[in-house]
Order: sequence, then C-alpha cells, then structure tokens
Amino acid sequence: MPGQIGLFYASTTGNTEEVAQQIAAMAPDRVRLHDIAAEGVARMQDYDTLILGIPTWDFGELQEDWDEHWQAFSQIDFQARRVALFGLGDQLGYGEWFLDAMGALHDQVVSAGGEVVVPWSTDGYDFDASKALTPDGQHFVGLALDEDGQRSETEARLQQWWPQVLAAFDS
Ligand SMILES: Cc1cc2nc3c(=O)[nH]c(=O)nc-3n(C[C@H](O)[C@H](O)[C@H](O)COP(=O)(O)O)c2cc1C
Repeated sequence: MPGQIGLFYASTTGNTEEVAQQIAAMAPDRVRLHDIAAEGVARMQDYDTLILGIPTWDFGELQEDWDEHWQAFSQIDFQARRVALFGLGDQLGYGEWFLDAMGALHDQVVSAGGEVVVPWSTDGYDFDASKALTPDGQHFVGLALDEDGQRSETEARLQQWWPQVLAAFDS
C-alpha cells in the first residue's frame, strides 16, 4: 500500500498555497497538506515521502515562514526519505535569482541524507541564473513554476510532473 505523502509549503501572497492545493487535489487520499506558517516543520518526520514547496523572495532569499523555521528544518534527518521539490519564482522580474530558494531546500535535504527526486528540464524557461540547477545545468532540482509570467503553463506542468513523482516515490 503506497504511503501518505506530506506536502509542506509556505506562501506569502498565496501562489504557492494555490499550487499546493492543486497538487493535493490530484491525490486527495494520499497527500496531506501542511502550511509551515501555521504548523512548523516537525511533522515532516512522520513521512517517508515528502513534497516541499517554496517561493523565492527578496533577491534569492527564502520565503519568510521557511526562513523562520529553517533552524528546525535543518535538524530533520532525511535519511531514507524521498523528497520532491517545487519552487515558485519570477524569471522575468528576478531572472538573476530565479528559484534560488528551491536550491537552498535541495541542498539542505541532501546534506541531511535525503534523496531528492524528479529533476525538471530547463527547456521553456528564460532566466539569467539560478541556484536551483543540477550540476549539468540542464535541469532544475525540482518542478519550476512561474505564476507571474507563465501561469498558463502551470496546469500542464503539474500534469506532467505528478506521474513522475508517484513513480519515484513508489519504486
Ligand atoms: C519583492 C519580491 C521579490 C521577489 N524575489 C524573487 C527572487 O529573488 N527570485 C524569484 O525567482 N522570484 C522572486 N519573486 C517572485 C515570487 O517568488 C513569486 O511572485 C511567487 O509566485 C510568490 O509566491 P507566494 O505567493 O507563494 O509567496 C519576488 C517577488 C516579489 C514581489
């Protein structure tokens, strides 16, 4: 029986929250939503499979609630846990820092022993620099979403990403 998936996110202006709800709607029996602003991060330890969502703010910085709980987040042991990431940013307005916060999440999960799954091709995005790239520079470390400039792409991107997440979690 596939296990529950804990989806942890935080959102300043609601975009990441909206995407989190769209993801949960794809598998309501399986995905449990956790808003970090309200609940913190401690319950991440209850799940072997996690989805973490973060927008980048203020020129490459963590969103404020993630920032507030970063100390606790950095105490979590991710060994034997699989993690899929999604990041929100604005490639036109903040193209030198596109999705940087997703890169910070990735690095922390990996340094705490976790396995980050489902790299995402950079095809179809136009930006100057990002700390959320894999070493080959051809992929992001997780699903890249831009509600400011490419909102119309989000639904299709989610539909393409979701089966890959399930395949990675259930293999
Ligand atoms: C003041 C400000 C700073 C931002 N800085 C960045 C940034 O450095 N990198 C980036 O990719 N997006 C940046 N963004 C875009 C946000 O990440 C984007 O609007 C996102 O959808 C917000 O998500 P939220 O509504 O869940 O908070 C910034 C937006 C604002 C308004």
